[in-house]
Amino acid sequence: MEVILAKSRGFCFGVQRAVETVYKQIDKGGKIYTYGAIVNNEEVVEDLIKKGVTVIDGPEELKNVLDGTVIIRAHGVAESVYKQMEEQGLSTVDATCPFVKRIHKIVQSESGKGKQIVVIGNPAHPEVIGIAGWCKSPAIIIESEEEAEKWERNSEEEICIVSQTTFNYKKFQDIVEIIRKKGYNVSVANTICNATEERQREAKEIASTVDVMIVIGGRHSSNTRKLYEICSKECANTYFIQTLDDLHLELPKSVRLVGITAGASTPNNIIEEVQNYVRINF
Ligand code: F3S
Repeated sequence: MEVILAKSRGFCFGVQRAVETVYKQIDKGGKIYTYGAIVNNEEVVEDLIKKGVTVIDGPEELKNVLDGTVIIRAHGVAESVYKQMEEQGLSTVDATCPFVKRIHKIVQSESGKGKQIVVIGNPAHPEVIGIAGWCKSPAIIIESEEEAEKWERNSEEEICIVSQTTFNYKKFQDIVEIIRKKGYNVSVANTICNATEERQREAKEIASTVDVMIVIGGRHSSNTRKLYEICSKECANTYFIQTLDDLHLELPKSVRLVGITAGASTPNNIIEEVQNYVRINF
């Protein structure tokens, strides 16, 4: 059995930075909160909770925090959350990924010029909620080609399109094309993170050559789900697992090549475990 391990796998730069920020803060001591789970990975979050970190789930819970340090995760938050923290006198450590910060700046400035912001992404995703929270007027959030087809605009205002960093590049292009064809005045900032693009491209390439493909990542991680979606199209035997415990593989003898990739919130030790297991057991 041969295993092909994707080169771009596991923690991306932004998530690595955010997780390290929390561990450094733990070393400094004091009460620590993260605004939302620091990564979409239960194992990592549980370890942090064991070390005394509390996860705050939204502005309502934030109201009850009276002291300590709140760490803003890589996905970023809306401007209103910074204001709320300031008003409550909390000390904050901002671990927003610089690539996400860049989107905040774009939408803040472009909506300030009167443009309608369109965010291509999942409206329920914290990153998208955060991006929308930097717009001077309400943003339109579009997740699918169907939604883009249905969307009608009466005003002449210019439209500025940005994307959730982990959105599928091909789908983003298709949605932009649908909006462009409507004849609107559109400017586009491709804000899909290279880490995501590269990871998706490589996963697709590997999945198209292997007999079995394993995608490792958190259940709630949208970029892992997208990796799974991409790989499933290339390889019928694609498995989505969170940890080694979820891997129940009964591989037929004909299987020679197994590919492994992992979403941006998957720590290296989990990837190593899965890789070793597959190498040894099959
Ligand atoms: Fe940042 Fe890209 Fe990761 S935007 S959080 S480096 S996927």
